[in-house]
Amino acid sequence: MPVDTHTHILPGIDDGSPNAAVSGKMLEAQKRLGIDKVILTPHFYLSQQSLDSFLEKRARAIEIFSPIAESLGIEARYGAEVLYTQSLADTELEKLCISGTDYMMIELPYQRLTNSFINEFRSFAGSLAPDIRLILAHAERYLDYTDENSLYEIMECDMLVQLNSGDFRMFSRHTGFMYELLRHGLAHLLGSDCHNTTSRPPNMDIAKKAVSKKLSPKLYARLDHNAEAVFEGRSV
Ligand SMILES: [Fe+2]
Repeated sequence: MPVDTHTHILPGIDDGSPNAAVSGKMLEAQKRLGIDKVILTPHFYLSQQSLDSFLEKRARAIEIFSPIAESLGIEARYGAEVLYTQSLADTELEKLCISGTDYMMIELPYQRLTNSFINEFRSFAGSLAPDIRLILAHAERYLDYTDENSLYEIMECDMLVQLNSGDFRMFSRHTGFMYELLRHGLAHLLGSDCHNTTSRPPNMDIAKKAVSKKLSPKLYARLDHNAEAVFEGRSV
């Protein structure tokens, strides 16, 4: 399980790692779990900052982060977790794609997904294709705000779907939904969405154990392979 596709390890840019020391500890934790590739996905909220100021801030964070990752033998790609808003349509989204790829991670607003929102999102997603390929961040988390059917409708857009490893921890409505998605080939990627070393730590081992046991090691291996493909910018 070499790739963690969703992380907030980059220091001082969002509500994830606050500084180089914590980033180093998070990377060490990844290493202990056998992860040697991470995709950095700091939050980007267009309503709170301009694209340019985000990119400048991210570039400074990368300068601090890179030597730490290199010293631990961890390879990184730089992206963002982009919160969807209508005005994204007028933004140079290719700049937010995971470095060296045309994949961009998108997060839905935490609200009930109405039919009009679903239609709006679908036309947004359609307008990006084929230049930008979307990855829907942690599909299961929206269940706290909306129903399964609206999520299935959203997932009819041509995009990859990522699940959070920690949400496999206990059996809940979330895990039932996650296994359903995996059984039907509707979820493609696993990520830790780690923010720190305590309450939201690197934890890709949880998903590995759960998916291998509840579904199959072969399916887990496929997810692993998908993450590798995204890291390298190949099709899944
Ligand atoms: Fe995240």
